[in-house]
Amino acid sequence: MKTTISIIKADVGSYCGHQLCHPAIMDIAREMLGKAKKNGKIIDYYVANCGDDLDLVITSDKGIDNKEVHGLAWDVFMEGTKKAKSLKLYGAGQDMLSDAFSGNVKGLGPGCAEMEFVERGAEPVVCFLMDKTEPGAFNLPVFRMFGDPFSTAGLVVDPNMQGGFTFEVYDVLGHKKVMMKSPEELYGLLALIGAKSRYVIKRVYPGPGNKVPTAEAAAVVSTDKLYQIAGDYVGKDDPVAIVRGQSGLPSVGEILEPFAFPHLVSGWMRGSHNGPIMPVGMKDAICTRFDGPPRVVALGFQLNNGQLVGPVDAFADVAFDRARQTALKVADYMRRHGPFEPHRLSPEDMEYTTLPKVLKKLEDRFQKI
Ligand code: 13P
Ligand code: 13P
Ligand code: MG
Ligand code: MG
Repeated sequence: MKTTISIIKADVGSYCGHQLCHPAIMDIAREMLGKAKKNGKIIDYYVANCGDDLDLVITSDKGIDNKEVHGLAWDVFMEGTKKAKSLKLYGAGQDMLSDAFSGNVKGLGPGCAEMEFVERGAEPVVCFLMDKTEPGAFNLPVFRMFGDPFSTAGLVVDPNMQGGFTFEVYDVLGHKKVMMKSPEELYGLLALIGAKSRYVIKRVYPGPGNKVPTAEAAAVVSTDKLYQIAGDYVGKDDPVAIVRGQSGLPSVGEILEPFAFPHLVSGWMRGSHNGPIMPVGMKDAICTRFDGPPRVVALGFQLNNGQLVGPVDAFADVAFDRARQTALKVADYMRRHGPFEPHRLSPEDMEYTTLPKVLKKLEDRFQKI
């Protein structure tokens, strides 16, 4: 049997402002997914949140882009939106950019990362949930997991990993993709994914000689860009990712290690600022200071014929305290720039925020020099 694991997520309304997904919405999600599990529509589920985003982890035997699974998530988001409206929550239905579901959630607002594979004897998976940032925030850590021997020891010491990994990179503006082989094409790969607002790692596949089949994804990231769907600023694309670990793939510790460095990401405050991404346990996945700083949560599961055994709230570990302290220091430093770049995003990234409306008003005031 092949197992499909999906994270389908949306911000359907939050309190207070953009801080937290409301417990009543999470209850609705648990109830609806619980019913679907009972009816055999899905195998298992876990309902989580990162800040104001509702994240549904769902397992099934139905494959990716499945109408029933996506339809179920869609229905949860619709019911959640109704509840959010009744509670007058902030941004009720924020990510629901269409009201017509047509087979899967792609292009409709919610974000999605999913993969299908034959479960190995033991199948550890880590589900990453981010808030107040964009899909490119995963470029650096996912690159380190599968491409950087100074971060992932297995690239050096595990014979399975000597064949490297293949990165599937999306050009999210050009609507194109390219497959890049690591380590052979390392420099070219970094030339692309260093420009994280345009080139985004979508999937990673094992290279030749790995005991995990080269056709099976080892990692997948949600790459949905809301402004491209809405044509206007409607909140950030707060991404999610799934990474499989161990036995030919990075160990779980190697999957988590890149987050010991709280790198700078885009999406803080009004989707308009750069700031450090702070790895946190679930109870701290709440974006308060200047609507942030951006957060990432890691939920570790063992799959058991599709059953989700877990989660382990990985970043709750004190071993990430120092990363959090660094993130807070960097947050202070970045905040002191106020409206100046590079705290504020570059002009091309600000195009998708509310700033152009302000600049438009000044257009007639300019004189030739
Ligand atoms: P164990 O020897 O505890 O199984 O760990 C091996 C490993 O992969 C550690 O990352
Ligand atoms: P979300 O994308 O998480 O809704 O945040 C919007 C925002 O810009 C908060 O400042
Ligand atoms: Mg929001
Ligand atoms: Mg959010």
